[in-house]
Amino acid sequence: MDFYITKDYEELSVAAANFLAGQITLKPNSVLGLPTGGTPLGMYKNIVAMYQKGHIDFEKIVTFNLDEYLGLNPQHPQSYSYYMATNLFDHVNIDRNNIFIPDGKTQNPIETCKDFDRTMAKFGSIDLMILGIGANGHIGFNEPGETLQVNTHVGDLSPETIDANSRFFTDKEEVPQKAITMGLGPIMKAKRVLLLASGSSKASAIKDAFNGKITTGLPASLLQLHCNLTVILDQEAATLL
Ligand code: GLP
Repeated sequence: MDFYITKDYEELSVAAANFLAGQITLKPNSVLGLPTGGTPLGMYKNIVAMYQKGHIDFEKIVTFNLDEYLGLNPQHPQSYSYYMATNLFDHVNIDRNNIFIPDGKTQNPIETCKDFDRTMAKFGSIDLMILGIGANGHIGFNEPGETLQVNTHVGDLSPETIDANSRFFTDKEEVPQKAITMGLGPIMKAKRVLLLASGSSKASAIKDAFNGKITTGLPASLLQLHCNLTVILDQEAATLL
């Protein structure tokens, strides 16, 4: 595990974008696993700026998003499809056929999950998986529990996650209670994993995930077993390490 502690969110965002740009430069046909949420917004902003300066090329890049809310259509402003379009895909030369995000409006979630796994399998393992972390230690929408799943599945959002994510919705009642999420399989199989955390609300999850026991009760702790993990934190997220 490699840990890098940056001064603040701005520095974290630049470091994460540089890490991602390095991957794209070294392997222009990389398969990426991409996160949403507040944390990677700065990384996406910086990566779009690098693309606009001609430093990186998305032509052959393939992306799989970690998760999507069940019940939201891709045009919904809080859907992760919309987030990815507005924060990254609409601004770079990625081939639309190379973008894979679980369909939140599916009529058949089980088949959608299987399809997502089948498509991922066609590309082999993910070259770089970028993750955020929930304050309760979730990754993607793999929430703490007695067990964790390997494959893409429909998961229930925990009350803490619904609470945390309600800041993006006008009303807490609007936050979907379920989501489609990649399981731990493709995350653990990825050639490299980059985890980002910013702010004091993540400090306790970061401490428990990396200084504590490996437990399904804190899904990010399983990353201790990954053989190529980089963690970039800002100072506030690193205070309890
Ligand atoms: C969300 C997403 C995760 C994300 C996490 C942290 O619920 N499902 O993929 O990493 O919560 O989000 P944020 O970066 O906004 O704190």
